[in-house]
Amino acid sequence: MSTYLFPPNFLWGAATSAYQIEGSPLADGAGPSIWHTFAHLPGKIANGDHGDIACDHYRRFLDDIALMRDLGIRAYRFSISWSRVLPQGTGKPNSAGLDFYNRLVDALVANNIDPSATLYHWDLPQALEDRGGWANPESIHWFTEYAQLMYGQLDDRIKMWATFNEPWVAFNEGYVEGRHAPGRRDWKEAAMVSKNLLLAHAAGVAAYRAVGKHRVGLVVNLVPIYPATESAADRAAANRFDAYLNRQFLDPVLLGEIPSELPEMFADAWTTWSADELRTVHQPVDFIGINYYLRLVMCDDAAAGPARARIVNPPNRPRTATDWEIYPPGLRETLQWVSERYGNPPVYITENGAAFDDVLPPNGSVNDTPRVEYLKSHLIAAHEAIASGVDLRGYFVWSLLDNFEWQSGYAKRFGIVYVDFPSQRRVVKDSARFYADVIRTAGAALGSNRD
Ligand code: FCB
Repeated sequence: MSTYLFPPNFLWGAATSAYQIEGSPLADGAGPSIWHTFAHLPGKIANGDHGDIACDHYRRFLDDIALMRDLGIRAYRFSISWSRVLPQGTGKPNSAGLDFYNRLVDALVANNIDPSATLYHWDLPQALEDRGGWANPESIHWFTEYAQLMYGQLDDRIKMWATFNEPWVAFNEGYVEGRHAPGRRDWKEAAMVSKNLLLAHAAGVAAYRAVGKHRVGLVVNLVPIYPATESAADRAAANRFDAYLNRQFLDPVLLGEIPSELPEMFADAWTTWSADELRTVHQPVDFIGINYYLRLVMCDDAAAGPARARIVNPPNRPRTATDWEIYPPGLRETLQWVSERYGNPPVYITENGAAFDDVLPPNGSVNDTPRVEYLKSHLIAAHEAIASGVDLRGYFVWSLLDNFEWQSGYAKRFGIVYVDFPSQRRVVKDSARFYADVIRTAGAALGSNRD
């Protein structure tokens, strides 16, 4: 028997994103983002929800930081709202917006919590969308200007930056499926967006190398894809979807290659890459952030989207409130896959967590045993990955707070802290207490393995 002890410098964190928690999207001179626009379109978000108030974190951030300190959380991954600091997306900065992030970062540092900033968590300034958004190659320059502004403001205190959160989701949900802002379904445009996001990431990294003193990386969502049967057709379908989701962004960045499946999949919409562009995208990053939630089992289906692969839900598997299959071994496998395919880069689990239908009792903490079990099993999987040689440096739970879960609005609760939205009261859930114990004991609270 040995306990699940994590390395001494392992970073224990919690994650959020700007539009999901801040509220006050237009306060103090901020400009609207595409999410502000999208959420206010009728019928886009469950229950007509939007981020106008969200967790009111814009005004309550000091309390939220105190909460993290009390739980012993050592690192906080947040994102910066681009249109709060640059209301027009480029040009004149909004000093009140910059002040907000400066005060946030100061308060984190004062409480011994490492700030980790993501520049883009899906909320493009609407002013830039009006100029063509990510489909416009100018977006690469817009992003660079924004990144330089923020590095200049905060790099003295921020040791870990991410350019983009989940570019695949921004591309697929925003431009292929249209479920996220800006809500388009245009394959040709999507192909341009995919490429521009990669080039913007690279430009953001290059800009960091010129002025930054710490580390910069990219955050991707990874989903292990399993074939529904052992048939050649299903295996090929699973492989296509793997290229589409998992390798589309990582292969260019970490290998300087485009997955060979993609040109065929994009067909007429495919945008060719010059050797120079590939070289630009393939430049060293200091870490990869991995967001892991679920696995997918897929079968061949000629009618099912660009990858011609359809999801088959295996029966009798445990699922969360978002109907995602709970599959902890997939986290270990994903971490090992990244390590093997890409030469064991430093990685962080930048998001992991689950939505369940939590109930607020009249008093006391929220009893969320399913989330405790989810976190426990995934932390054990992370520990197994480290034991097998993966260079895993930290774990950020998604999320600190219940928040605006994109098209699901406030109906899906991912927090380890419950937010009673009408009163904005925060109530610690059992999962937060459990996570605090894990942090305090460097993993020993997870128990022991059997060998
Ligand atoms: C991820 C997003 C995050 C949150 C979780 C549940 O894809 O990065 O903002 O919505 O899913």
